Amino acid sequence: MDLAPRNRHHLWLANPVMIASGTFGYDGYGRGIPADANLAQLGAVIPKTVTRWLRQGNPEPRWYPTSYREGLAAGETTFLNSIGLANPGIEDALARLAPQWPDIGTTVVLSLSGESAAQFGEMAAMTQGVAGFQALELNLSCPNIEDGAHFSHDPRLAAAAVAAVRANTDLPVLAKLAPNVPDITVIARAAVDAGADALTLSNTIPAMRIDVATRKPVLGGITGGLSGPGLRPVAVALVYRAAQAVDVPIIGVGGIFCARDALEYLMAGASAVQVGSATLADPRAAFRILEELKTYLAENGISSLAQVIGAALPKSSP
Ligand SMILES: Cc1cc2nc3c(=O)[nH]c(=O)nc-3n(C[C@H](O)[C@H](O)[C@H](O)COP(=O)(O)O)c2cc1C
Repeated sequence: MDLAPRNRHHLWLANPVMIASGTFGYDGYGRGIPADANLAQLGAVIPKTVTRWLRQGNPEPRWYPTSYREGLAAGETTFLNSIGLANPGIEDALARLAPQWPDIGTTVVLSLSGESAAQFGEMAAMTQGVAGFQALELNLSCPNIEDGAHFSHDPRLAAAAVAAVRANTDLPVLAKLAPNVPDITVIARAAVDAGADALTLSNTIPAMRIDVATRKPVLGGITGGLSGPGLRPVAVALVYRAAQAVDVPIIGVGGIFCARDALEYLMAGASAVQVGSATLADPRAAFRILEELKTYLAENGISSLAQVIGAALPKSSP
């Protein structure tokens, strides 16, 4: 499928199922993904976000399954994480990791996060001429060092970051937005007007839990990001709203654990999906979801995903 058919920068995906940034790792094999699972079967993988400089990340614990009910299966648990963008930095990623990525055999999207629009642009410029990935995803859920506001909370900042990248790359640019904004259509339009070829909706929701026995936050980073099933209805609504505001492809992400979850996003207007927490719970999740999707299409006599994409949107939508 061509994810950005109306744009100058096309992103070809063999199918609509990808593994989300932060849940795949960096090496060509994916974190925990069994050796017999063929990553080439997936639409794309997105290694963890890289920043301009190496980051050690937040203090432990960085990870907490936040379910009130005991005995839930891993796949049903909503997660809290506070990794703090631990990563080796873009220079190391481009020199040491990107050369491994062609071995994956599918589309690789490089996720970038900058501390200023200029730094986003600088990082995009550093990727020029480097092989191993076919698109850039901008993790805009991070603060701008100049005024502390998050890029994806302010349309001017989001536009500035996207424009800075757009000016320094010919690769397709995916803008990954935050869910906790009053009106996603404002940020979505700003990112698209600045040159984003597609939107990824969404990143995690800021959240925290407190251990009542110790009277302390459960995460070393105090607050973290909520992902998993609890995020799904929130992100489906974002996709539904953004799909009616912009005419670029939208990638749905948040709590996708089975084909039915993926279908909700597709029907809300997404053209593709990313599988995050489910991959951590079950490294084969994205492969299973892809097979389940194929079965759903076959069983329902649906020959093309286009028959499903946007099916729940009001009829007048673009
Ligand atoms: C442990 C963990 C680390 C993550 N790291 C990143 C990251 O580096 N960059 C990014 O854009 N998103 C990151 N995310 C967010 C996911 O890519 C995804 O947007 C989010 O978790 C919602 O999808 P899910 O409910 O399927 O996990 C991370 C999520 C988790 C759980």
